[in-house]
Amino acid sequence: MKIAFYDTHKFERPIFDHVNKHHQFEIEYIESRLTSSTAVLASECEVVCSFVNDKIDESCLEQLKEQGVRLIVLRSAGFNHVDISAANRLGIQVGRVPGYSPNAVAEYTVGLILCLNRKIHKSYHRVRELNFTLDGLVGFDLKGKVVGVIGTGKIGKLVAEILAAFGCEILCFDQFPNTELEKHSRIRYAEFNEICAHADIVSLHIPLTPDTYHLLNKDYFSRMKPGAYIINTGRGALIDSAALSDALKNGHVGGAALDVYEEEEAVFFQDVSDQVLQDDVLARLLTFPNVLISSHQAFLTKEALENIAETTLSNVDEFVKTGQVPVERRVSSV
Ligand code: NAI
Repeated sequence: MKIAFYDTHKFERPIFDHVNKHHQFEIEYIESRLTSSTAVLASECEVVCSFVNDKIDESCLEQLKEQGVRLIVLRSAGFNHVDISAANRLGIQVGRVPGYSPNAVAEYTVGLILCLNRKIHKSYHRVRELNFTLDGLVGFDLKGKVVGVIGTGKIGKLVAEILAAFGCEILCFDQFPNTELEKHSRIRYAEFNEICAHADIVSLHIPLTPDTYHLLNKDYFSRMKPGAYIINTGRGALIDSAALSDALKNGHVGGAALDVYEEEEAVFFQDVSDQVLQDDVLARLLTFPNVLISSHQAFLTKEALENIAETTLSNVDEFVKTGQVPVERRVSSV
């Protein structure tokens, strides 16, 4: 079985090669992202392996189908970059890695909160320039602050538990509340609007769907508690970035830490340091002293990469043996 492995990065190849020793698939590593223009590179492969910023729309899927592709395995939990109904209609199965390391993302989220609030990113640079002053580095205690956790699946649940241990009051929002989580004395579910009005920090952990697109927008920011922080390790387009930029500029939002960005495909995972940044909203966000942006790295731990490689290749293995990706890792529309 030959796998076309798109958007290959240096950090993942050795781990996939190691795990593949047990499977012996033929993996063709391709640096390009998967789009309708690059689908042709998978012409001799029955399986395509995709990362988060590929664009697997209907025309890409039709081309893959024509070339004989029967399975797409995603090296991610999120699948918003794939037109799932078109894949289903064309009979191409899609497998994913639902929970490769919720801890990696949850711990990174808390790291972002601490760094943004305590200005660790600023003091790192300041001290290296032998400036040992403290002005401008005042943060706040997390103990007693209200944190809104939007989405309490695998990652959001851990974020809620970790921050409850810091002494925060956690207000959760999810379409399917987790009753176990509510047993914690500092954690309760609340209405979306209550969280907006009361949270000192709002952290996003829901998938990007048509329902959640720009969930945090101009109206939401205007109703937030003045000075509140926004943390996003979910998906970029959960936030209207231009509206966030305005809310930061007028001072209503107190800070933002973003590991994902709605137009991230254009620059994330690439070195564009010798180019002029074309994205004016990103350029503006990068000028704010109270904004931290990282390049979609919340998942990036050794444990997570091993889990991604093992689950992705076992999805292919199951497909070869049974013609199906295990149901809990198969993505279907509906
Ligand atoms: P999960 O599927 O375990 O949890 C998602 C939760 O969101 C579920 O409890 C679900 O009920 C809730 N939800 C979905 N739609 C909703 C809606 N419209 N309203 C209210 N609640 C809704 O997913 P998990 O593993 O916790 O991941 C969350 C997201 O984190 C992923 O969808 C992905 O986009 C992102 N992610 C980001 C990574 C990074 O490196 N920055 C890495 C992994 C995931």
